[in-house]
Order: sequence, then structure tokens, then C-alpha cells
Amino acid sequence: MKETLLRKIRNKEIVVGVVGLGYVGLPLAVEKAKAGYRTMGFDIRQKKVEMVNSGQNYIGDIVDIELNQLVETGRLCATDDFSRIAETDFVAICVPTPLDIHQQPDISCVRDSAEKIAKYMKKGMMIVLESTTYPGTTEELLKPILEEGSGFKCGDDFYLGFSPERVDPGNREFKTKNTPKVVGAIGDDAREVIAAMYRSVLEGEVYEVSSPAIAEMEKILENTYRNINIGLANEMAILCDRMGINYWEVVEAAKSKPYGFQPFYPGPGLGGHCIPLDPYYLSWKAREYGFHTSMIESSMMVNDKMPEYCVDRASRILNHYGKSLNGSKVLILGVAYKQDIDDYRESPAIRVIEVLGRSGAKVDYFDPFISVYHYKDKAKRGLEKISKEIVSRYDLVMVTTAHTNVDYEMVQQSAKAIFDTKNVMKDVKHRDNIEVL
Ligand SMILES: NC(=O)c1ccc[n+]([C@@H]2O[C@H](COP(=O)([O-])OP(=O)(O)OC[C@H]3O[C@@H](n4cnc5c(N)ncnc54)[C@H](O)[C@@H]3O)[C@@H](O)[C@H]2O)c1
Repeated sequence: MKETLLRKIRNKEIVVGVVGLGYVGLPLAVEKAKAGYRTMGFDIRQKKVEMVNSGQNYIGDIVDIELNQLVETGRLCATDDFSRIAETDFVAICVPTPLDIHQQPDISCVRDSAEKIAKYMKKGMMIVLESTTYPGTTEELLKPILEEGSGFKCGDDFYLGFSPERVDPGNREFKTKNTPKVVGAIGDDAREVIAAMYRSVLEGEVYEVSSPAIAEMEKILENTYRNINIGLANEMAILCDRMGINYWEVVEAAKSKPYGFQPFYPGPGLGGHCIPLDPYYLSWKAREYGFHTSMIESSMMVNDKMPEYCVDRASRILNHYGKSLNGSKVLILGVAYKQDIDDYRESPAIRVIEVLGRSGAKVDYFDPFISVYHYKDKAKRGLEKISKEIVSRYDLVMVTTAHTNVDYEMVQQSAKAIFDTKNVMKDVKHRDNIEVL
């Protein structure tokens, strides 16, 4: 099986399947297709399938024309018909791994896609999980579902591995193609073949580890590292405010040390599908071993309180201008969870808007990337544009996302008061109406 697959990789005879065509799956499918593999994307959402098949792009990091050409030349197609898994030789699973209402891992999408794959898989396939998850998922959950559903034996009849996705939406330097990739698999042959498959597509290093659990854990380590360091930055920012010290100046100074320090910045909280969620996967799994991930818990406590903290600060700023939050008009700049993208999943700005609203403030938002967002079954539409006249109507402008295509000089000149939670206005000329987090 190993030699046959290596030959098929060399000859680009592998047919690739990507299950889940979202922020991770679609760029991956595009890269596989660009590398010369016939690629099929599988998704349960009909609309995404139709969009891909008509060459319409819905992910910011993908070049529209590339997707269009790959579809037109028949190299890439999408389907919701999972029986077509039988046509593929390599399947990457890129489905969501959210939390349930009790903040526990909701692994149902992984389970569901594995059951569908098991039904239609054939001997001699490679299957790789890319979704972020707790250590043990590939061997303890995926392997039995695939073996029982197909009647095949892992290692003898198919290869199984885990390769975490590191895509950083909006990153101009590192994309799917040039970001180093970690691969762990069940057995040496599986690892060799799966790593060869990624090497044939990617420019970044493919780093092999000895098991799927190592690869699963290293991904959680990456994201927990960010979560905890952002928690530290947030805690320091709160303390600095009490002490009358500007945290942003502190961190710039600390950055001058050429080793042993990496800067992290505070903000209105954590957002996105990864950093706020993934550490919970580890905390949950750790409890099986009677272990409490206390550092994760404490950074979560700090990060989760940031939207409320930011609203408290907003209230103090308004008091300073003789206004109360109740009845004030507040303009939020940015609802995306980070700059220059249109993704608002878990965005702290949306929590800030909710808390402001509960306090009686009248809140509007402007986000150049998001004209409308949906939260708790309701849609909220943003302002189409901002101008001096529009900005001057608000009692407070709160910057919650550091988008780079906003005219911050104009905002400074026309706003009565500004609370800049991202220090994005650091270079504007006059600062008398600006307070930073
Ligand atoms: N977004 C990121 O920046 C990022 C970065 C690294 C890792 N990840 C991880 O990658 C995984 C996917 O994240 P994403 O951001 O691409 O999610 P996403 O929501 O953008 O896309 C997931 C896609 O999977 C589809 N889907 C859901 N259940 C399915 C099923 N049973 N069968 C087939 N398709 C199904 C959805 O319709 C959706 O199109 C998650 O585990 C996430 O933690 C995400």
C-alpha cells in the first residue's frame, strides 16, 4: 500500500477529498488542486457547494481568479454527495470543533463526517484530521469509527493521521502554501506517505512527529500559549490603568530586548474559532486524568471579563465628559474578531455591543468588512460609511478592531471622545480626546 501511494503521489494520480469547505478547508482544497491533484470538496451546506461549483469565492485569503480557473478546468469541484468519497485516495477533514453550551468540546461534526467517510471509503486510502481537537481524538474516536464503519483495519487497509491547520486568516506573509505543517500518524508507513502528500503540495516545511497525539497536543500548545499570553497582556493593561501607566508604552519598551520576550497586546477580549475555544478542549481532556489546567482557567477568567471591563472604562470616560452610559450614543469601530478580515465568530466586539446595550447605551457600529452580523438569532446592520458629520453625532467612539482601512485622523478630529482598545490610533497627530486600554 505504501509504495503504491508514494508512486501515485509522484505521478499526481491521487484524487483529493476535503471535507468541510470553510476558512481551513477551501484554501487547502485550492492548494491541492493548484499542485495538480484532482480535488473534490465535501460540505453539508448546499450554498457553499453551489458557490464553489460556480467559481465564486467566499474566503478572503483565496485569489478569486485562481478558484475560478480551477473550477473551470475541472480540477476542483464541490459536492454534498458523500458517496463520492469512494472516488478519492486522500481525505482531509476540516470541519468545525466548537464548544457546547456547557463550554465542553462539541465533536459532533468530526464524528458525523467520519461516519460518512467510513460508509464510502475504499482500501488504500489516506485519511487525515485537520480540525483542532483534544489529544487522543484521532486514535480514540476517529480510528474506531472508520474501522467499524468500513470493516477495514487501520495500518493494513488505510492510513490515518492528524495534521493541525495553522492558517491565519488575513496574514499577508503566511498562507496555507508556505506555513510549516506538522504531521503525526498511526504507524511509520502512514506518517511517511501522509507527509509525502503534504510535501508535494506545500512550500513550508513538513515536520513529522511520532504520533497523532503529539500533533494534536502541539496545536493546542500553540493556541494555549497565545491565549495565556494575551491573558497576561490584558491583566497587565488593567493593572497599568489603575497605576496610571500606559501599557502600550511598557510593551514597546520590553520589545527592545532582543531575546526571551515576545510582545502580546491587550484588547476587548478573545475572538475567532480557535484561541478562545481550543484551550477548553485541553482542560476537558485533562480532567479525565484528574488534572486541573489552572493557568488556562485563570487566563480564561481574565480574557472573558474584558468586554465588561471595556464597557466599565467606556462608562468612566463618559462620566468624565458629564454623561452617563445610559442614554449615550456609542459608535463601535470594528466587529470582526481581528483586523482586516470579515470573520466575527466569537468576536468580543459583539459582546461589548451587547453589554453596552444592556446598560442603556444606543449603539451603532461601522466595520468596513462586515455590513451585517447575526447574533442570538438577530441581525444587526452596521453604518454603510462614516464621515466627520456622522462621527460627531456620537458621545463616544470605541475602537474594538484594528482595521487598517479606517480614516482614524478624521475620527479623531470629529469625535467627542474616543476609547481605543487596540491602540490603533497611536500615530494620529492630536490625542486629547483619545483614551487607550
Ligand atoms: N479559522 C481558522 O483560522 C482556523 C485556524 C486553524 C485551525 N482551525 C480549525 O479548523 C477547523 C475548521 O475551522 P474553520 O474555521 O474552517 O470552520 P468553518 O466553519 O469556516 O468551516 C467548516 C465547514 O465545515 C462544514 N461542515 C460542518 N459539518 C460538516 C460535516 N459533518 N460534513 C461536511 N462538512 C461539514 C461547514 O458547513 C463549514 O463549511 C476547526 O477545528 C478549527 O478549530 C481554524
